[in-house]
Amino acid sequence: MSKVVWKGGALIAPVPPAMVTCGEGENANIITVAWTGIVNTQPPKTYISVRPSRHSYELIRQSGEFAINLTPASLVRQADFCGIYTGRKVNKFEKCGLHKADASALSCPILQESPLSLECRVTDVIPLGSHHMFLADIVAVDVDEALLDDGGKLRLDRAGLAAFAHGEYFELGKKIGTFGFSVKKKHKKR
Ligand SMILES: Cc1cc2nc3c(=O)[nH]c(=O)nc-3n(C[C@H](O)[C@H](O)[C@H](O)COP(=O)(O)O)c2cc1C
Repeated sequence: MSKVVWKGGALIAPVPPAMVTCGEGENANIITVAWTGIVNTQPPKTYISVRPSRHSYELIRQSGEFAINLTPASLVRQADFCGIYTGRKVNKFEKCGLHKADASALSCPILQESPLSLECRVTDVIPLGSHHMFLADIVAVDVDEALLDDGGKLRLDRAGLAAFAHGEYFELGKKIGTFGFSVKKKHKKR
């Protein structure tokens, strides 16, 4: 494999085109965010990196709260829209036909149509340059009951989640392994 070398750039893929809800009541908003991830397991911590020029930036700074709503492929058009238009001018819930649902631990809403929402409380705001990172505790997770199997296990593979890679949207496809499968002993056939 021969490689070309470029200067450093923000190129990790795939990332989630997450639909982040923030703000309260009539001021609630949705911003699409790709710069997000898990940074700690216990306590569960996440981050979103948001440009200070975004309307959502002020909403999150004021309330210290947001929810990360995972985006299924069926919502990718709405996710793209929420990543183009600003809530300063447009009510994105109305324009996209999306609905607010009550969070269990936050004052801001979660997204009714999302199969899984992480309710987040900001612990630190870290200015990084173009973006500020909101580091947050994940204080609750809201899961669509339809994603639980008979034993109560989460089957996220059934959510049809979308992925974002270098400006393009994809739908997650074929399962090609499970955690630890590379070292699992194979059952001997008798
Ligand atoms: C797929 C996608 C990913 C995005 N990721 C981010 C991000 O991580 N951080 C950010 O500040 N803006 C991101 N944006 C841009 C914002 O979503 C966009 O500027 C949005 O209109 C801001 O809305 P607001 O002004 O209502 O907050 C992304 C847009 C798209 C379409």
